Amino acid sequence: MTTRADSPDAFEVTDGEPPSVQGDAAAAVGQIGGLAGDGVVLAASDVGKRVHGPEGELVILSELNMQVNGGEALAIVGPSGSGKSTLLGLLAGLDTPTSGDVELLGQSLSTLDEDERARLRAGDVGFVFQNFQLLPGLSALENVMLPLELVGAADADGQARQMLAEVGLDHRAGHQPLQLSGGEQQRVALARAFVSRPAILFADEPTGNLDGETGKRVIDLMFSLRESRGAALVLVTHDERLAARCDRRLLMSDGRLVAG
Ligand SMILES: Nc1ncnc2c1ncn2[C@@H]1O[C@H](COP(=O)(O)OP(=O)(O)OP(=O)(O)O)[C@@H](O)[C@H]1O
Ligand SMILES: [Mg+2]
Repeated sequence: MTTRADSPDAFEVTDGEPPSVQGDAAAAVGQIGGLAGDGVVLAASDVGKRVHGPEGELVILSELNMQVNGGEALAIVGPSGSGKSTLLGLLAGLDTPTSGDVELLGQSLSTLDEDERARLRAGDVGFVFQNFQLLPGLSALENVMLPLELVGAADADGQARQMLAEVGLDHRAGHQPLQLSGGEQQRVALARAFVSRPAILFADEPTGNLDGETGKRVIDLMFSLRESRGAALVLVTHDERLAARCDRRLLMSDGRLVAG
């Protein structure tokens, strides 16, 4: 970070849109080329983010390079404000960099418009957030069905029920999010993230709002789903237990990658 403003709200940047799930599943792992080598599902090349505010230019993320291989679990760690969530948003195509490019599942994100990025995310990318982000008006089952319905999958109801059973919540299928505990909501969110068998799953502090014991159960579940469904994981976390489960970690400080 070169400068820091008192009020981040004063900066003009595009908010990352919520993860969209619509349209056809797009790129497949088999289409990887360009920036990425064989087996690479995610590659960032000189990716940076700067914004302009009243005090001049603010460097949120200095140009950085990284890759994730298929099936790999990567933890992004570092102090608060070091740019972890910003990086995750750029890697997942929820936000656009001011320099460099990201190749996600063989697609260069800079060559895609917003709809095309949404289609790429819809079929092949899962998301889990600290605050669960389930749709409040829908039941647990309907939340899990959503990604399947939006890509026109056959038997969304059956697949979603099976997925809810895998996270141990088949008996809560009809409950709305507010009728579920935090840990249960995160398990529904995991079911929703994994139900379409994504090639890669992004999570921002998935245990951040959970107590220690519930967090541990969510970590175990996430890694067991990764095992059974084969997704790469890219996780931002302050939770050492979660980082320790990953194959590799990147350490960020002040908008830069300092180790990993
Ligand atoms: N839209 C924005 N405009 C201006 N500054 C921003 C914007 N988004 C993030 N920042 C700043 O960039 C820095 C990195 O933010 P980011 O949310 O990526 O940090 P983080 O590592 O995820 O922190 P935490 O661990 O607290 O979640 C912070 O100083 C933040 O205030
Ligand atoms: Mg963050």
